Amino acid sequence: MNTPSLADMRKNYQQAELLEANVAKHPLDQFTLWLNQAIAAELPEPNAMTLATVSSSLRPSTRIVLIKGYDEQGIVWFTNYDSRKGRELAGNPFAALQFHWVELERVVRIEGRVEKISEADSDTYYHSRPLASRIGAWASPQSQTIASREWLQDELKNYGDKFQQEPPRPPHWGGYRLVPDSWEFWQGGGARLHDRLKYTLNDGQWLMQRLAP
Ligand SMILES: Cc1cc2nc3c(=O)[nH]c(=O)nc-3n(C[C@H](O)[C@H](O)[C@H](O)COP(=O)(O)O)c2cc1C
Repeated sequence: MNTPSLADMRKNYQQAELLEANVAKHPLDQFTLWLNQAIAAELPEPNAMTLATVSSSLRPSTRIVLIKGYDEQGIVWFTNYDSRKGRELAGNPFAALQFHWVELERVVRIEGRVEKISEADSDTYYHSRPLASRIGAWASPQSQTIASREWLQDELKNYGDKFQQEPPRPPHWGGYRLVPDSWEFWQGGGARLHDRLKYTLNDGQWLMQRLAP
């Protein structure tokens, strides 16, 4: 099979415009609108977001996580606190999130400081998960090198036998919240004239400005 020419692959965006007059005053309201539209459009995994962290040696890294909640306090996801992202956040709490809703020609970028959510809230979500996921949180030393797939399967069995139906939440597993100080809403436009509206916090007020595409 011939490889298509990557240099010639491009899409012209033309679905919508994002105008100052039509966006919400508060970025959280604009996010709610776009997330709900992405869910209503039945996009594949509209709740998946890229999370970027930076190590103490200033190397950035990204991975995808699922948004599990959001409100005026911030955006929440769950993971292993000892994972690579967890270690990087322990050393440098600033992070960035990105949603790409391809079919809607939309991107949302969110930046801010990350904190752990309360133990009680992590407990509540942990205990809402399917049993296999709860056992998996014990069995998988996320981001570490392991000997083999069989090793992981043995660990799953061992923890399954140990905890049966009621595993407690592992101390190394829980939620994080990114507290935003910047949001960007990007809507693809024709001839690469995309709309970019960025909100930044100024003395507790959200200031909205247009960025060049
Ligand atoms: C769609 C999708 C959703 C994911 N959601 C999560 C999640 O919510 N939490 C998580 O720890 N990993 C999630 N992962 C796995 C991560 O992308 C990543 O492999 C893992 O967290 C290890 O990242 P790290 O080694 O950089 O810490 C998801 C992967 C995909 C493709």
